[in-house]
Amino acid sequence: MLKVDNINVYYGNIHAIKDVSFEVNEGEIVTLIGANGAGKSTILKTISGLLRTKTGDVILKGESIKSVAPHKIVAKGLAHVPEGRRVFLAMSVEENLEMGAYTQPASSVAPNMQEVFQWFPRLKERRRQMAGTLSGGEQQMLAMGRAMMSGAKVLLLDEPSMGLSPLLVKEIFEIITELNKRGMTILLVEQNAQMALSVAQRAYVLETGRIIMQGSAAELLNNDSVRKAYLGA
Ligand SMILES: Nc1ncnc2c1ncn2[C@@H]1O[C@H](COP(=O)(O)OP(=O)(O)OP(=O)(O)O)[C@@H](O)[C@H]1O
Ligand SMILES: [Mg+2]
Repeated sequence: MLKVDNINVYYGNIHAIKDVSFEVNEGEIVTLIGANGAGKSTILKTISGLLRTKTGDVILKGESIKSVAPHKIVAKGLAHVPEGRRVFLAMSVEENLEMGAYTQPASSVAPNMQEVFQWFPRLKERRRQMAGTLSGGEQQMLAMGRAMMSGAKVLLLDEPSMGLSPLLVKEIFEIITELNKRGMTILLVEQNAQMALSVAQRAYVLETGRIIMQGSAAELLNNDSVRKAYLGA
């Protein structure tokens, strides 16, 4: 479904991503774990077209997207939920959701919104409320709902658990699991390795821009060096 093939990404002279390759099969949740500054967000931004790779390729459903404009990548069924949510604070919940459907025909806005409201009933209750007055967890739900408005088949989630209470983290991860059961392919980036490995099927470990380990989520959960470095045990 999604293949990242030998990418190298730079910020000026800083070589942030080094020879990274991995893939996400249709229907999988794959997680990319790594410490602060490892390059997780940089990889997601490169996939969604916000940054460009100097080498290699990014392939979505067999087609190269490494030079495709970000909004066209969204139209091809890939949506990015950025770190820190980035919802439009001075717009209502409904208006934020409408923005998510900008690549879609107008006729699909209402049905897509009904579907998002089924996933996130709390957003429905608050649909006329300004996004800036939502709690952190509700803003995360809105950011995910906005991405789903595009009719995405592949979701890139950048640290959805950041700053949320344990209860909300659990809730968000349950929704991620449920979305996946209904066919959504998900690339999940997390510092919360415990949670990420508990919902993912496979994982890659990123250290200073390189993939240093990969395997099934179960394997990595039981790996001693992963436990020491990322699971505090
Ligand atoms: N706009 C930028 N200009 C220069 N360097 C950057 C820029 N954005 C990121 N970097 C650097 O690239 C590296 C990777 O950053 P990135 O944001 O991808 O890490 P991350 O794994 O997402 O970290 P975090 O867990 O803190 O979100 C870091 O060393 C960072 O300082
Ligand atoms: Mg990041």
